[in-house]
Amino acid sequence: MPKLTVDSGDVTVDLLEDETILEGLYRNGFAYRVGCRRGGCAICKVDLLQGEVVYNRPVAENVLTESEMAEGTCLTCRAVAVTDVRIALREDNLRRVSSLMALYAATRTG
Ligand code: FES
Repeated sequence: MPKLTVDSGDVTVDLLEDETILEGLYRNGFAYRVGCRRGGCAICKVDLLQGEVVYNRPVAENVLTESEMAEGTCLTCRAVAVTDVRIALREDNLRRVSSLMALYAATRTG
């Protein structure tokens, strides 16, 4: 399974098969920004510093353009890592929010 490293390596989590980067962070109790989580608001954009991601679900062109993707912008609520990846947050710091783990579990099963 791919590993996700955030910023300078302070946080590393294992991603599950077909799990988005945002889901992987939530499952491990981390959050940085909470938006639509459906590819519609663009709040979850980060910089992809290393590795490769795919988009298995549709992403609107007005949310993430081809040129943004080519320049390394990653929409974390839709991006699924296919290799180990390293990302840099843009305007936020990662925070530990353990209650998000329960929220994540509820949304995955509901
Ligand atoms: S959280 Fe809205 S596009 Fe990712």
